Amino acid sequence: MFANSSAYIFRYLLEGQENMPRSFFDDYILQQQLGTGHYAIVKEARDRTTGDIVAVKIFHPNKTGGSGSEEEETKLRQEMNLLLSINHPNIVKFISHYVEPINEYSSTTYLVLEKVNSGELFQRIINKSKLGQEETKSLYRQLLGGLKYLHDSDIIHRDIKPENILLDISPRTSRDQKQTGAWDENEYDVRVKIADFGLAKFIGERKFTNTLCGTPAYVAPEVLNNTRNYTTKVDIWLAGVLLYVCLCGFPPFSDELAPPSMREQILAGKYAFYSPYWDKISDSALDLISKLLVTDPQKRFDIQQAIDHFWFAEGGQEEFNYTTSEQERPLTESQPITLLQRHTSEIREKKEED
Ligand SMILES: Nc1ncnc2c1ncn2[C@@H]1O[C@H](COP(=O)(O)OP(=O)(O)O)[C@@H](O)[C@H]1O
Ligand SMILES: [Mg+2]
Repeated sequence: MFANSSAYIFRYLLEGQENMPRSFFDDYILQQQLGTGHYAIVKEARDRTTGDIVAVKIFHPNKTGGSGSEEEETKLRQEMNLLLSINHPNIVKFISHYVEPINEYSSTTYLVLEKVNSGELFQRIINKSKLGQEETKSLYRQLLGGLKYLHDSDIIHRDIKPENILLDISPRTSRDQKQTGAWDENEYDVRVKIADFGLAKFIGERKFTNTLCGTPAYVAPEVLNNTRNYTTKVDIWLAGVLLYVCLCGFPPFSDELAPPSMREQILAGKYAFYSPYWDKISDSALDLISKLLVTDPQKRFDIQQAIDHFWFAEGGQEEFNYTTSEQERPLTESQPITLLQRHTSEIREKKEED
């Protein structure tokens, strides 16, 4: 049980030197689990003095035994300070962090974060099978705003996907209350919070890249090619995959569309806007996607170009009930045969001529 091991850490620290830094357990009480991912488990915690509820990301024990040089340690500390200084309404806030030794050779990192209350974008897409165009636009605008802040701070997220986009939903109090976006009738505001970024350096680059290869639907071609000098353009590709998934409910690259293999599809930038799924979606949305899913990072849009794209300016005819659509298809289910017929859109064909 976790409670036992935490008691152990606590005791270990108390018996240690006087000038030992504060333990996570001095400041917080752990509560129920909120989620898990590749590298960590996320739990709720309560601040012992203020009673505030936070989320704490607990990393699997990491070997520490003397491997990091003084220089590396300083770099890591700078990196953590940068993350702690992040302050944007669409990015999960870092509150503090603790490194707790387990024994001489390994330690556990506790990252204290702002708690986000309404789950993952992933679940919202699953529940509705896909999102309406205006709803997607309202969410996506926020996502790009947060991403711009990261990119302006020279932080590459590298793992943009619906599981890492969290939502904070404020309920609507009356029918007269004007909603902040194209949300469900009972929602006043849906706030996007980007989570799970900037941590590659803490987990170890190798481990990070390997794990990414385990979820290849969300991987940029230059990462597959292992060029190593990734830029912020990696996030733009992933944002393109995400936009595609929001609007139709299935990913642009997958083994269900093979041949060629998903890897080949990504490397070649081969995807299509299949009929009937894309029939009702405006050409400008397709245009934006086609500017994001460009295999050459240099030719791919940057964050500002994405934000300035005319899809966002386009007035949406309301489509509030659009999300409860004819086809009820979860994200994970394999695609019907129509997908293999490859109704490649004009935009794609034009791009391939280039
Ligand atoms: N600040 C938070 N508030 C609420 N839930 C969170 C928070 N951070 C993470 N979670 C939940 O925990 C899951 C895993 O967290 P994440 O940071 O993505 O870890 P990993 O790096 O292991 O993927 C998320 O997908 C989400 O469901
Ligand atoms: Mg995650």
